Amino acid sequence: MATNVLTEEPAMMTHTPTANFETDLAMEFLRVVEESAIASAKTMGQGDRKHADEVATEAMRRVMDSVPMDGTIVIGEGERDEAPMLYIGEKVGKQDGGSYPAVDIAVDPLEGTNLCATGSPGAITVLAASERGGLLHAPDCYMEKIVVGPSCKGVVDLEAPVSHNLHVIAKVLDRDVADLVIIILDRPRHEKLINEIRKAGARIRLISDGDLSPGVAASMLGSGVHAVMGTGGAPEGVITAAAVRCLNGYMVGRLVGYTPEQGERMKDMGISDPKRIYTADELAPGKNIIFAATGVTEGTLLKGVRFFGDGVRTTSLVMKLSKGKVRFIESIHLDKRPDVKVRIPER
Ligand code: FBP
Repeated sequence: MATNVLTEEPAMMTHTPTANFETDLAMEFLRVVEESAIASAKTMGQGDRKHADEVATEAMRRVMDSVPMDGTIVIGEGERDEAPMLYIGEKVGKQDGGSYPAVDIAVDPLEGTNLCATGSPGAITVLAASERGGLLHAPDCYMEKIVVGPSCKGVVDLEAPVSHNLHVIAKVLDRDVADLVIIILDRPRHEKLINEIRKAGARIRLISDGDLSPGVAASMLGSGVHAVMGTGGAPEGVITAAAVRCLNGYMVGRLVGYTPEQGERMKDMGISDPKRIYTADELAPGKNIIFAATGVTEGTLLKGVRFFGDGVRTTSLVMKLSKGKVRFIESIHLDKRPDVKVRIPER
């Protein structure tokens, strides 16, 4: 019988998750996001978002294949004909004839390609993994969403007026609407939303890109982010939902197709009710969920990759749903040279 390389226990000859699904794989996925962050961080500020994304994707794909799993990309860089790597449906992992756990994986090898290309804060490399069927196969369209923290569970509603949502968030957080900080992508489509939030009196942080890590921050108490509102990428929405579940936060989201092609994609991927409002539990319904992200450029949630004489330092967030573990991990990756000295670099 095959052996699970991490636990050295006989691996189950089945596609159902093992009791150790999350424990076995979490640190493996940490390696995956760390390596793609290091690769893309080398391109920071070079002004080439495509190249930054390519190197992140290549590194993610390479390390992913060393993970003992029968992995399938369910959210990735696009369809098979448009993405050479990490395309939807691609098999990843060591794939040892059924002895490894079956894992569905949603990846965003570089979330915030522009941020990395311009050296702006907030680029991360990120993935979510679950047992088969544990993540919604979201089409490459948009998602209108509200993400809030654990105290706001069930109180916000996508159909409700913006001012109502802000008042209930303020009430459960025991503060005034004027104290709230809401993060929104700075896009023309959000003009009305921004005006309504301003009218209600809440504070706004407009971001140029990268609404996934603010969604994670909104689910954490004490992050200074009280909600993320507005429409971003649907793939980012599903990965955010995986993080929200691990953090016991709350999220509601509705798929949006702005073009006929996006509408078609939604149909093709089996979305029968395009108006359906999903909660995080429905976007990422898995019993086992792993979320892993590493900072590429400096950010509020994660520090960026730091290169020093003898190696590289990274900061990551790794979360496991069933184990209830939220880990911020600092790693020092030393160069493999005989003269390397281990030292603690400046923070
Ligand atoms: P990329 O990393 O693919 O560049 O996406 C960044 C991002 O800003 C996401 O964080 C966000 O959800 C989405 O793009 C918004 O899409 P658009 O730029 O089309 O409004």
